[in-house]
Amino acid sequence: MVIAIILICAYLLGSIPSGLWIGKIFYKTDIREHGSGNLGATNSFRTLGKKAGIAVTIIDILKGTAATLLPFIPYFSDSAVHPLILGGIAVFGHMFPIFAGFRGGKAVATSGGVLLGYSWPFFIVLILAFIIALKISKMVSFSSMVAAVVGLIYSIVNMIINHDYALFILIVLLASFIFYRHRANIKRIREGTEPKVKWL
Ligand code: G3P
Repeated sequence: MVIAIILICAYLLGSIPSGLWIGKIFYKTDIREHGSGNLGATNSFRTLGKKAGIAVTIIDILKGTAATLLPFIPYFSDSAVHPLILGGIAVFGHMFPIFAGFRGGKAVATSGGVLLGYSWPFFIVLILAFIIALKISKMVSFSSMVAAVVGLIYSIVNMIINHDYALFILIVLLASFIFYRHRANIKRIREGTEPKVKWL
């Protein structure tokens, strides 16, 4: 029973559609009808502006982190569910949120949050990879995929050194989610029509 409840909590945390709720409550705007139509941090920046974009980024990261930390709640302490399983479920919730008709985001910020909860040095490596790629390309989607590839390489090295198979399996899953959800972006990048950020 406790296991079922902790898994459901992870899914519900991931399902929080921050971009949709902030857009609707504070800007009377449904971000799914604007920009890329994606329910994520980038489209919140694009559609609602900097303040909302920052808020959505932070919430989307923290919901992934919170999912990995659920076992620290005393009620769940005996559940013995691996934090990365909870993180993976939160990312699934972010992509298919029950509170937003199962049409969610592209897995980037929440995946980052899961890794922040599990290993902050890994998170820092990914943020650096993302920032460098963004500086060069000015495309958030491209930079997200670069971070996914760097994450994959990091997790392989970490698996060889520390035998952390769970992290490797999760990263393969998250990187696959990220590439799959960026299909339209990949097409636009190839065609040269992917929007670039202006503030860099
Ligand atoms: O986090 C999603 C980002 O990589 C791309 O978002 O709205 O430009 O498709 P978007």
